[in-house]
Amino acid sequence: MPRTKFATRLALAALSALILAGCSSEVADTHPEQPVTKRRDAFKAMLRSFEPMGTMLKDRRYDADAFAKLADEFGRLRDAPWSHFGADTNYPPTKAKPAVWEKPAEFDQRRQEFVAATDRLLAAAAARNEAEVRTTYAAAQDSCKACHRDFRK
Ligand code: HEC
Repeated sequence: MPRTKFATRLALAALSALILAGCSSEVADTHPEQPVTKRRDAFKAMLRSFEPMGTMLKDRRYDADAFAKLADEFGRLRDAPWSHFGADTNYPPTKAKPAVWEKPAEFDQRRQEFVAATDRLLAAAAARNEAEVRTTYAAAQDSCKACHRDFRK
């Protein structure tokens, strides 16, 4: 096969893979209670207060009151996703790994570590202690990543 034709085929294959990937994330959540949609929305809502806290720290413009407000908001949202991981809720379009249902004790352990880490962040934010806020924020972020590494695709 001439090189250019091969390249074109490769490009087309890559393109259709992209389109397929795009479509698979568009699969509709047809379950009546929509637990997958609910937990994903809950994670996204949580991120909307968690991320700005990180940005504030990264940009070195820590504002104790604004940070405490974001932390309060995050504290209200951090428990929301978990009740939507019921027994029959491993279906497309979920990005959760089967491990969530295969290793429930480990998943719950990660969730508890996340709660403990974010408890420390909320306390530091309320105390308006920047140094503590920085270390506890980093630890909280590690707790998100640790769970995603094993339990999210
Ligand atoms: C105990 C495990 C666990 C912890 C802790 C955790 N997550 Fe997740 N997260 C998941 C799983 C599982 C999914 C996939 C959910 C699905 O698609 O059904 C997910 C999905 C997400 C999503 C994607 C939502 C979407 O659009 O599909 C975001 C954003 C997210 N998490 C943010 C966070 C942040 C920020 C933290 C920490 C502050 C965090 N998560 C902590 C397990 C966790």
